Amino acid sequence: MAHLSDSPDRYGLVSRVFHWGMATLLAAQFLSAAARWGLDRENAVRETLWSYHTTLGTTLFLLVLLRGVWGLANISRRPPHSGRMGQAAKLGHIALYLLMVIVPTLKLLSAAGGTRGFSYLGIQIFPAREVEIAWLSSFGEWHGELGWILALMIIGHIAMATVWHHLIRRDDTLRRIAG
Ligand code: HEM
Ligand code: HEM
Repeated sequence: MAHLSDSPDRYGLVSRVFHWGMATLLAAQFLSAAARWGLDRENAVRETLWSYHTTLGTTLFLLVLLRGVWGLANISRRPPHSGRMGQAAKLGHIALYLLMVIVPTLKLLSAAGGTRGFSYLGIQIFPAREVEIAWLSSFGEWHGELGWILALMIIGHIAMATVWHHLIRRDDTLRRIAG
């Protein structure tokens, strides 16, 4: 069990699988968003990439909840973050978590209030409504913008891990999560 859980000198297997698995899925999610934003409506690549956006987005929403529960269960054992930079890193991670929860939640709330209904893996989650609940639907307006802010924060996070920690300070930060 010991290697599954986190410890002060490294992240355990479960946290690492969550971290790298979700990083890969988020990359695919941003690829679909970028295709929607950058390619013409008739483009077949855009169609293909966009076709999985809501399913993958809902999967990411469920995964981040599980990851958060696992993170909280391991919070007292995780690698410590000391000093000002450490506290800033901690705040950065909390912000990443918040956005990973908020971005899909906004769209799910708007689907709950919409007239089209919403299904996930063939299971109906929200039935189609005859009349839209406007205040619920309006939550979706912030989804795209906050999604791109999350993408920028992830770029900053990757730069800190690779350039600052691995190349400049040459410390163990990247190894603790890489395994
Ligand atoms: C979608 C992409 C990513 C997201 C959302 C993300 C998010 C996070 C979060 C929330 C943590 C805190 C530990 C945890 O709860 O899992 C973390 C840790 C870490 N991540 Fe990422 N990450 C991403 C991609 C990457 C990539 C590509 C790298 C490196 C090339 C990286 C390097 C690290 C390192 C080194 C840590 C440990 C930091 C420390 O102990 O202070 N991450 N990441
Ligand atoms: C972590 C999960 C998610 C991320 C990172 C994400 C990211 C994004 C981004 C960046 C855009 C903007 C694309 C553009 O500029 O054209 C977007 C648009 C969109 N997303 Fe997501 N998304 C996620 C989850 C979801 C979920 C769960 C749903 C549906 C239930 C969804 C439905 C949509 C729709 C319909 C749009 C089109 C624009 C709009 O109506 O606002 N997304 N997404």
